[in-house]
This record gives sequence, C-alpha cells and structure tokens, in this order.
Amino acid sequence: MKKIILFASGNGTNVQQIVDYFSANPQVEIPMLFCNNPKAYVLQRAENLHIPSMVFNKNDFFSTDIVFDKLKEINPDLIVLAGFLWLVPEKIITAFSKKIINIHPALLPKYGGKGMYGHHVHEAVVANHEPFSGITIHYVNQYYDSGDIIFQATCSISTTDNADNVAEKIHLLEKEHFPKVIDNLLFGNR
Ligand code: GAR
Repeated sequence: MKKIILFASGNGTNVQQIVDYFSANPQVEIPMLFCNNPKAYVLQRAENLHIPSMVFNKNDFFSTDIVFDKLKEINPDLIVLAGFLWLVPEKIITAFSKKIINIHPALLPKYGGKGMYGHHVHEAVVANHEPFSGITIHYVNQYYDSGDIIFQATCSISTTDNADNVAEKIHLLEKEHFPKVIDNLLFGNR
C-alpha cells in the first residue's frame, strides 16, 4: 500500500484529479488532505471524496510540530503540493527528503519565486508575449520553486490568448500529466 498526502489551499481541481485517478487503484491510499485556508473549496471536495482534512494556520505550521507530527504518524510515501503556496518548514523537508513534490504552472526556472502563483504567473506570461508556457513538477526544497525538476510539459500561447485562456491550457496539462507523474514516482514506469 502506498500513501499519498495532499496539501492544497484553493479550488482543488488537481486534488480532485489525483483522487479520481487513484480511486481505481487498491494499492494507493490518500489518508489526509492538509489545508491552510479554512475557506478553500478544496475542503468541500475532500469531504465529498471522504478524505479527512486537517486545517492549520501559519503558527501551527511554522512554530509548532502539529503538522510534522501528523505526517510522521501517517508516514506517507509521497507528499504532493497541489496548489499550495507556502514554503515548507525545513524540519519537514529533511524528514521527508525526496518525498515532497510540487506542481508549478509555468516552465521553471522562468516565472517562479515568491508571489508567482496561479493567475499571477499567467498574467506575466501573457504580458511578456511568451510563445510557450507549461507545467513543472519538481521536488520541494526550502526555497520557492527551485528544487530538482522531475517533469515538464509545454503548451503554445497564441497572441490572442489572455491569462484565462492560458490558465485553461495549463489546467489541461495538469490534468493530463500530474496523476501519471505521481504514479510513476510511486510505482516506476508501468
Ligand atoms: C494550479 O494551477 C497549480 O499549478 C498552481 O495553483 C493552481 C491550483 O489549482 N500552483 C502554484 O501556483 C504554486 N506556485 P487547483 O487548486 O484548482 O488545483
């Protein structure tokens, strides 16, 4: 049995897709969703999907061991940041070395770093008239968007695309690739 822990703080389309993808796989369990935003729609999704969730605040995360202790208790094979925007405390990164991954909605190292998330990324891509954008799945370290890259996929951007169109293209790439990349990390290429 492989255990995946999800971290998210927003809408949760990636969470939904990951859970749907693995729902037919009895070898995979998703025992908990961690969320730092009590108003996030992803919490409703988790409830609908019968996945327990733990909501935490900045103090819990950065100044206590509440999240760390829960993660140690669950002992996951992979921790997946699926639309989660905070840095991860070093203690967690060290304890789960090479077991924490993030998805970023751009072709890193471009359009990464603090403040570069979600729509901000797509707006910057359009403002710079980039011909391409894409997704990057990477290991998480103590800095923003700079861990080793595992996978990238690209899409073309036309001169008429706005940030919403780019967001749609990126979500399609995320849907197509993110669950499969997780599957490959857990089970190797099959
Ligand atoms: C996704 O596009 C993800 O790549 C991005 O947030 C979105 C979350 O959507 N992540 C970042 O920007 C991280 N820096 P979702 O809540 O619908 O899955």
